[in-house]
This record gives sequence, structure tokens and C-alpha cells, in this order.
Amino acid sequence: MKMFGLHRTIPRFFRSLFWKLSLTFLSLLVVLAVAYIYITAFTAEMYFQEANQRLNASVAKHIAAETQPIVNGKVQQKKLETLFHNIMILNPSVEVYLLDTQGRILAYSTPGKDIQRTSVSLEPLQKFLQNRGASFVMGDDPKDIHGEKVFSAAKVENGGRLEGYIYVILGGEGYDSAMQFLLGSYILRLGGRAMGFTLIVAAVIGLVGFAFMTKSLRATIRTVREFQQGNLEARIPISSSIEMNQLGTAFNEMADTLVHHIQEIKTMDNLRRDLVANVSHDLRTPLASVHGYVETILMKGNTLTEEERLRYLTTVLHSTEKLKKLVEELFELSKLEAKQTTPNVEPFSIGELVQDVVQKYQLLAEQQKVSIKTIFPHHLPLVTADIALIERVFQNLLDNALKYTPENGVITIQLESTYNKVNVNVADTGYGIPPEELPYVFERYRKGSQLSLESDHGAGLGLAIVKKILEVHGISISVFSKVQEGTSFSFNLPVEASLLR
Ligand SMILES: Nc1ncnc2c1ncn2[C@@H]1O[C@H](COP(=O)(O)OP(=O)(O)OP(=O)(O)O)[C@@H](O)[C@H]1O
Ligand SMILES: [Mg+2]
Repeated sequence: MKMFGLHRTIPRFFRSLFWKLSLTFLSLLVVLAVAYIYITAFTAEMYFQEANQRLNASVAKHIAAETQPIVNGKVQQKKLETLFHNIMILNPSVEVYLLDTQGRILAYSTPGKDIQRTSVSLEPLQKFLQNRGASFVMGDDPKDIHGEKVFSAAKVENGGRLEGYIYVILGGEGYDSAMQFLLGSYILRLGGRAMGFTLIVAAVIGLVGFAFMTKSLRATIRTVREFQQGNLEARIPISSSIEMNQLGTAFNEMADTLVHHIQEIKTMDNLRRDLVANVSHDLRTPLASVHGYVETILMKGNTLTEEERLRYLTTVLHSTEKLKKLVEELFELSKLEAKQTTPNVEPFSIGELVQDVVQKYQLLAEQQKVSIKTIFPHHLPLVTADIALIERVFQNLLDNALKYTPENGVITIQLESTYNKVNVNVADTGYGIPPEELPYVFERYRKGSQLSLESDHGAGLGLAIVKKILEVHGISISVFSKVQEGTSFSFNLPVEASLLR
């Protein structure tokens, strides 16, 4: 809850990835700058002290050799005073102490200020003497109870006997001002400015870099939002970074899939709407006719002649047959379109099937004075398909051929075997289909316009069913037609695989 409150009070920009990255980066730069200043100051100071100690390592030795400040255990006050005086004149930053063998302070050169220690530790002193001033050692500062300073030291000996030590604090009190000099140094100031400049350049480069890096992220967010707001065309542009690219590609693919599904749903929806509209239209006519005739028969009752009654009832029968066929076809097609029909594929003899179907149509053909011919070789290989569905294909093609072929016409069913297929061709010598209608004959509710036999026209579902049946088998069908000459449909059925070996 608190987080929410906090989020609301921080402006959006400061919550952005760019700002967070930049802030982290700038903080790093500041840490770096502080560390740099501290390290530079510390090393400069240490260097200064080390140089001071090395340069002045032999000062104490010279003093000891020149002055002889203790003779037989007695401090030579007079000599010391002259020495201290001279030193004060030559270098006021140097403090000279005379120590006894235990490190106790016997005398010192700066009378102005009181000393805080009565003795100094001999340990750093011994170390200094051992290394002859070649190493960097800090010793006790007598004027500061906790302080340490660089020094020079030498033994005071008399006839080979150790009498004490000369202990010289280098830099002394003047050292602090030397440190100040260091900080105020021109070179250091120059270095500081160069450092500042470098940091500013780094900060600018960093910020520009981050702005650049987060650019593709911002573009991605923009695109996703656009898509969310309904622009289905919005796609993320290809970016140079691998991660952003992967994200972009994944989103684009997802968007494609979504758009594809939406289109599929829309098409299905349109089809369904068409279907409902067409079905209600197609059902209305035969239903109205049935209704009308039945009503008349009931109303007129006994006044109807036997002949009239027979005629009316025949029309009713005809209409109900039409209705039955229509409903069956619609049911069949909707099952095929909803992909509920899976073909029960099995090997069968196509020749036998054709003979059977032709037999069933023979009577009808004779009535219409149309002949049906079959042409196929004796030994046809077995084909694999759903035999019941293929029978429906022949029925629909023959229905059409009979319906659209005038008297004395010929319908020819020809089967031809190639290496792995049996080609089926159903041709008639009928009215033919005009070229402008040819591309649409397989669409449902496509009914020919040129025929005079309006009453015999079906619902326009037959060829749509044929095409769908072959489609679920993975087979395509083609049609050739010439007006007043005839029409032929042809497709291939696959030969059973075991026969191919
Ligand atoms: N053999 C053919 N000769 C001429 N025209 C044809 C032939 N077969 C189909 N057609 C044309 O194609 C149209 C569509 O045929 P389809 O079989 O799909 O519908 P239909 O025969 O009108 O109705 P249904 O088959 O549903 O009873 C027909 O209306 C007709 O105009
Ligand atoms: Mg038909």
C-alpha cells in the first residue's frame, strides 16, 4: 500500500528505466570521483613524507657527528643551545630532540611550545637505523601524544659507548602547512579540473548511451500499447540489441497469430450469418408451397375433385422431398465445414463403385432420354479414400449432369490409371457453364443464371459438398466447360500405397 502512495508521489519520468539507469550510473561516477580524490590526496601525502624522510635521512647523523651533545653521560647544554639556535635560523620546520638510551627526552630545539611526551618509542628508531634511512618509518611525535611523524635519527656515541640518540622530526609543525600547500597546489587543481571534465564527458556519454539503449524499449512499449488500443497492424520494429529483438519477434509473431485467429473467427461468423440467411430463404419457398396446398385441401374438403387432390398432394410431396434434400445437404456441408467429418479411408475398387452408382441413375437417365457411358480399363488398381463420401461425389456430379443436360445428351464417366493415381472424369454434353460463372461454381449457394429450368434448380450446395469432400481427402477438383457444348469435372484418387511397391 505504501509503495502505491510512494509511486504516486514520484513523477512518471523519475520512475522510468532510463532515469534509474542514469541515476545508478551518475552515483557510480560520484563514488569514483570521491575515491579518486581521496586516493590522490592520500598517496600524494605519503609520497611527500617518504620523499622528505629519504632526502633528510642523514640530517641527524650530521648533527650527532658535529655536536657531540653528551660527553661521559653529561649533556653539553652550551653546545646544544648553539645548535638549536642555528637550526631555528636554517630550517624552522625541523625539530631536534636529544634522547637518552631509553628514549627519554633530555633536550629539544623548539622552546616556544611544550612537549606532550617525556619519551619516545625506540622501536621505529632502531628500524630506521638498521635500514640506514632507506625505508619509510614513522616515529612518535613528542608534541602530539597520539601523533606520528617522519624523522631522521642517529646514535650519539662516545668512545664506542652509546650515550643516547639525536631524533629529528622532519617537517615538524610546518608539515601541516606543507599539506595545505599540497592541496592548494596548481598541479593538483589542474588534475582536479581534468578529473571533473572527464566525469562530465563520461556522464554525457553515459546518459546519451542509456537514452539510445532504452529507445527500442520505448518503441516496443509504444507498439504494444497501439496494438492494445486496436491497431492490429502495429508491429515492433527490428532493433539492434539481441534481447529487444527476441522480445520484438515474439510479440510480432504473437500479434500475427492473434490477427490470424481474429480473421478466422470473422470469416466463420460471416459464413454462419450467410448460412442462416440462405437457409431461411431456401426453406421458406417449399414450406410456403406445402402450407398453401395443405390449407387448400383442408378448406375445399369434399369439393375437390379426385384429380385435383392428387395433383395438390403430389406437389406437397415434391416440396417436402425438396425440403428433405435441402436439410440433408445443409447438414452434410456444415459437418464437413466444421471439420467434424473425418474420412474413413480404405482401399476399394473404383470401377465397381462407378458401376453401382451408374446403375442407380440408369432409370432416371432413360426417363430424361440421356445416356450414361462408362470407359475404364479392365485392371484398375485399388484406390484409397472414404468410399461413402466418394459415392456422394459421384451422386452430386451425376445429379448435375442429368439436370443440366438436355434430351439425347451423353454423360461419360472415364477412369484412367497413371503411376500412383486414378484419374476420374465426369463429362456431359449439356448446356455448359458461362466462363464468368465458372470460377464460382464450387462456392455454396452458387446457382447458375443462364438456365430456363428455374424450377429444377437446387440450392446450389451440390458442388460445394463435392469440393469439401475431396478437400478432406487432400484432393483438388477441376472443371472445364463450354456453353452449349458441355461440362467436365475431373479429379485424381490415390492408388493404394502397397500396390506401388
Ligand atoms: N454439369 C453441369 N452443367 C452445367 N452447369 C452446371 C453443371 N454442374 C453445375 N452447374 C452449374 O453450377 C451451379 C452449382 O452447382 P451445384 O451442384 O452446386 O448446385 P445446384 O445443382 O444448383 O443445386 P444442388 O446441387 O444443391 O441441388 C449450378 O446451379 C449450375 O448452374
Ligand atoms: Mg447440383
